[in-house]
Amino acid sequence: MMNEKLQQAFSKQINAELYSEYLYLIMRDVFKELNLEGFVNWFDVQVQEERAHAMGLINYVYQRGGCVEYSAIDLPKLNGRNPIEVFEQVLSHEQFVTSKINELFDVAVEVKDRASQNFLNWYINEQVEEEESACNVLTTLKLIEGDKYALLMFDKELSARTFTAPVIG
Ligand code: FEO
Repeated sequence: MMNEKLQQAFSKQINAELYSEYLYLIMRDVFKELNLEGFVNWFDVQVQEERAHAMGLINYVYQRGGCVEYSAIDLPKLNGRNPIEVFEQVLSHEQFVTSKINELFDVAVEVKDRASQNFLNWYINEQVEEEESACNVLTTLKLIEGDKYALLMFDKELSARTFTAPVIG
């Protein structure tokens, strides 16, 4: 059986992952409007990853005999809509999610739930990749800033990203 405080912390993280899915869906539209289909694909994959992250947490809570407390998902608001501004927000959002995963892990430590600590290690490692992935796109965007041809070439590159359902835990 899962500790009540830990169960609530898991529920908050599930909400954060669903918010991430919503956020990336909205960011996807920015690139759809610009006709940059490679970026659209990048966000399509990101949306699927966030849903997988949420489902992994949901399945784990039920596996441990707990239940999920769902709550409303806030409407994401973008501060700036050019590609660099959007990816600055992707990176800062992923850094925020990392801090939330760390807090969830800290609760698992506090209540001495070793199985949850073990499970959450997957998410801690995943956040390293999430931040790296956002950072890589942002670095390239800054490098090619003002060069429309290079932006189109980079867009083509991002169209190769594919979603592979993660094996979580
Ligand atoms: Fe679920 Fe992008 O972290």
